[in-house]
Amino acid sequence: MNIQPAKRMALFAPSIFSDLKDFANQQKAKGTDLIDLSLGSPDIPPHEDIRNLLSEESALATSYGYTLTGTQHFYEAVARYYKRRSNVTLDPTSEIVQTMGSQEGLVHLPMAFCDPGDVILTTNPAYVAYDTGIHASGATPYYMPLTKENNYLPDLDAVPQEIAERAKLLILNLPGNPVPAMPSIAYFDQVIAFAKKYNVIVLHDAAYSEFYFEGDAPLSFLQAEGAKDVGMEINSLSKSFSLAGTRIAYIAGNAKMIEIIRNFKSNMDFGIFQPIQNAAAYALDHAEPITENLRAVFSERHKVLMQGLEQIGWEVAPSQGGMFVWAKYPYAKDCTDFAFELIEKLGVVTVPGTVFGTAGAGYLRLALVQPTEKLQEAVTRLATL
Ligand SMILES: Cc1ncc(COP(=O)(O)O)c(C=O)c1O
Repeated sequence: MNIQPAKRMALFAPSIFSDLKDFANQQKAKGTDLIDLSLGSPDIPPHEDIRNLLSEESALATSYGYTLTGTQHFYEAVARYYKRRSNVTLDPTSEIVQTMGSQEGLVHLPMAFCDPGDVILTTNPAYVAYDTGIHASGATPYYMPLTKENNYLPDLDAVPQEIAERAKLLILNLPGNPVPAMPSIAYFDQVIAFAKKYNVIVLHDAAYSEFYFEGDAPLSFLQAEGAKDVGMEINSLSKSFSLAGTRIAYIAGNAKMIEIIRNFKSNMDFGIFQPIQNAAAYALDHAEPITENLRAVFSERHKVLMQGLEQIGWEVAPSQGGMFVWAKYPYAKDCTDFAFELIEKLGVVTVPGTVFGTAGAGYLRLALVQPTEKLQEAVTRLATL
């Protein structure tokens, strides 16, 4: 039998993350002591109460039915969380839809709104799932560069008019991955004005909303005046509550848009395991005490890695939040070659910047997923280059 993938599979190349992991494991097998700063998978365990609840509920015989598009209990907890955290009022029934992790939501959402020929505005660099969703929908990406001069925020004024007129969806991510820029109301106001002018749906990915180091929490897009007229916010329990393996997230915002996604999702899956929804609801209802520890840990890690890299001559994108350090190294080397070299020579595992787009050339992304001593040790090793 001649087995051939569909032509569209050319757009879904195997991820370099697996190559990095395989290479790192080979080095480990040779005795290298690895410091893995590659994946943004939280190393802090979920709060004990969340784990206990999950295990108690999993033991119940009644927990195993389909939940379809989600439980009211979960949706009400999301609405309470938005009200408490951001003073945003959400109708739990019509303005929120759950997804099986935000990756699933991000990959499927463009299919629900965009056709071939439509343009989706995204950034360069950007989190990789946006491109996957864009390609799956057949729409055309337009990459807005994230530059230091523009504080790593996409410059909407620089989008050519003919592109803006064809745009159907705009994807933003603040604090971002890989570049941890922070949102402001003034910026969101510009986004909303742009969305209204060109009839563009906005999707703000707030996956790192609880990762901030000083001052106020990052703003929710839905806090901006008129946000619900033009868009939605997607958020996940993966990072803020260390529940990455449970796969639970949600999209909140414009009721018409949420209805379209609900309809799409009702054809795609039959919902998330009920104990996970209940554990997630508990987490959201106790978000403040649970995420306090996360902030203390990550702000210390951020300081150690950022200052350490700066001291050895690397240029680090300034940031007040997020889970990553976006660093320009002081050598004229291809970032993929350099990332493999760092694994081989120093046992330090990072992600080459170009994984996130062409603008990542000359950069590495380092995830703050190791204790401060390990981050310090990584800097000490990098200083030997
Ligand atoms: C910006 C951003 N959005 C979404 C995700 C997906 O997270 P999950 O699918 O676990 O919710 C990630 C994961 O790294 C991310 O960095």
